[in-house]
Amino acid sequence: MTASRSVVDRLDELVNVETGELDRRIFSDEEIFDLEMEHIFGRAWLFLCHESQIPKRGDFFEAPMGRDNVLVVRQRDGGIKALINTCSHRGNAVCRADEGNVKNFMCTYHGWTFDLAGELVGVPGLKDFYHDELDKSKHPLRRVAQLDTYQGFVFATMDPEAPPLHEFLGRTGRLSLDLVAQRGDMEVVPGIQKFVLKTNWKFPADNTFDFYHPQITHISAQAVGMVPSSPDTLDSGGAMTPEGKNLGVQRLRTDTDTIVLLAEYGHAISGPSWSAVMSALPPEYMSIFEWHDRPETAAALGPLGLQIGGHPHVFPNSWITFDGQLSLRVPRTVDTTEIWWFSFRNRADSAEAQKAHLGRQIHSFGPAGFLEQEDGENWSQSMAQTRGGEARNVPQLLKMGLGRGKIVQDDGLAKIEAPVNEHAQLWTYLVWKEWLKRPSWDELRRNTKPGESI
Ligand code: FES
Ligand SMILES: [Fe+2]
Repeated sequence: MTASRSVVDRLDELVNVETGELDRRIFSDEEIFDLEMEHIFGRAWLFLCHESQIPKRGDFFEAPMGRDNVLVVRQRDGGIKALINTCSHRGNAVCRADEGNVKNFMCTYHGWTFDLAGELVGVPGLKDFYHDELDKSKHPLRRVAQLDTYQGFVFATMDPEAPPLHEFLGRTGRLSLDLVAQRGDMEVVPGIQKFVLKTNWKFPADNTFDFYHPQITHISAQAVGMVPSSPDTLDSGGAMTPEGKNLGVQRLRTDTDTIVLLAEYGHAISGPSWSAVMSALPPEYMSIFEWHDRPETAAALGPLGLQIGGHPHVFPNSWITFDGQLSLRVPRTVDTTEIWWFSFRNRADSAEAQKAHLGRQIHSFGPAGFLEQEDGENWSQSMAQTRGGEARNVPQLLKMGLGRGKIVQDDGLAKIEAPVNEHAQLWTYLVWKEWLKRPSWDELRRNTKPGESI
């Protein structure tokens, strides 16, 4: 690499899909981070919040869109608008709260006041200082380019050229959200859990699909019975503890144990099949999954959707968990990522069932989550090692199953059946590269269509 070549010219060296090797600079290079902000987070449809968080007129929730913060506001007419949280006078944030209910937004610098639609309705000294010469109608809060919802999930994009949300999500992205929506009359539990990790946003994003790590990373959670461990450990080249105990290789080792779906624009679902998950769970858990047996669920998810038990990822940064949570990986700087957790509950459940559900959710993920603490250590340690003068020259590997992922069309979706693999991680980086390279949506769509293998 030479300093004079642009990052875009070097992308094929940085992410080598043929060898399954990644240059670690993609996690620590400021120039790449700037490009991601512009080409990915400045263009993609991004999840903002769920409609249940802003049910009443004047309710608002502040959400991140790249380096912008937007206020998602329920309007007087019941609609939703997303306003960029920066005053049209001198740029101050017009709202300091994460969420709440207001009649208007007053900037605390000089007092300019905006209504729920972002129109400028109050300017102190309009007559005396501005001599009545300021046209208020020309200085509203700026809005996002497009906003739409799917099943109550609110998304927006800053790009007026972006295709409609429905098309951007495609069947795989919509299926990912259906896997929450189909559980019942779903709403977000008030209070979004947020915390900061010293890592690049792509470490948690690609870990969404990593079913190689649970047997080692989450061995403590398995030891205390929090997640099921497999009784049928294999003894083929497994990990060894410092004391020499062979930890073996656990579940998900046959072709039908794992299902991978790859889709345009980078969406993907990967992980155990529904039956593989069910076979690993103790019987007392089964009542939790009654929603899955309803005919409406079958109709909405389709035959392949019903087989999904793994992890959906809506590109670029939304992970939907198996227990009805959505995790947003919010890039703040190249090595600082906020993790936001939206936990869903079924309004129709009893208070007791809702409490049990929330307990399972927040003790797995989020700042009090056992699994999240185990994962977060790996991500921040992996990040720290990208800084080493020599360590950064060691490529990261995504070679598992490389070239063996045969993609077949099933129920209109691009599917791979395989034992544990790294196909979806590789897909994520392959598509990531295309987002940085392709300024046109047509080219991006064409170049992120799953082929015959990966
Ligand atoms: S910066 Fe907002 S009123 Fe001046
Ligand atoms: Fe994990």
